[in-house]
Amino acid sequence: MSLSNPLNLILIPPILYLLYRRLVPSLPSTPSVLPNKYDENVYNWMPARHPDVLCHKSYTPVELAELDGRKNPNCGICLAIMRVGGDGKVSPELERTVFDVSAGASFYGPDGVYGNFAGRDASRGMAKQSFDDDMLTPIEQPLDALADLTPSEIDNMRGWHDHFSRKYIICGDLVNASSM
Ligand SMILES: *[C@@H]1O[C@H](CO)[C@@H](O)[C@H](O)[C@H]1NC(C)=O
Repeated sequence: MSLSNPLNLILIPPILYLLYRRLVPSLPSTPSVLPNKYDENVYNWMPARHPDVLCHKSYTPVELAELDGRKNPNCGICLAIMRVGGDGKVSPELERTVFDVSAGASFYGPDGVYGNFAGRDASRGMAKQSFDDDMLTPIEQPLDALADLTPSEIDNMRGWHDHFSRKYIICGDLVNASSM
């Protein structure tokens, strides 16, 4: 092709444009409105609402008792177990972890075999491998000092605490009402 021919000069810009388009494909246009319903076929779907969030906080025995799965069925089921220190000894100041055991509702729910532990300090029952009601401290009283536990009972309690830590969500500490 000869550049002296005016027709060839006129054809150069469109040819350059076509070359450019070939090398740089246009981006797909993004939708201006994001879908707000779950639709996994749409790459940018958003959940309808934010998932529920648990806040780590301190519970008194009376507050924990609200989370027994009966009084507030929509608020989940929680129970507490003492965290044994590295020396394997129990002292009244040792903290108790509150676990959200809603995922184990068939055990800890209102109709579960261990349902009486829901909303309560389960430390003594876990230590003594007993699910009787007399393992529970009345919720108006100070926390169970657990001073009478034998080393093997303390070991049981530590085992349950470890197991619950792996299985359930930790959502706070159980504290004396007087310390709030
Ligand atoms: C709870 O209160 C009792 C009695 O006041 C006390 O002996 C105990 O140490 C307290 N426990 C904790 C974990 O603060």
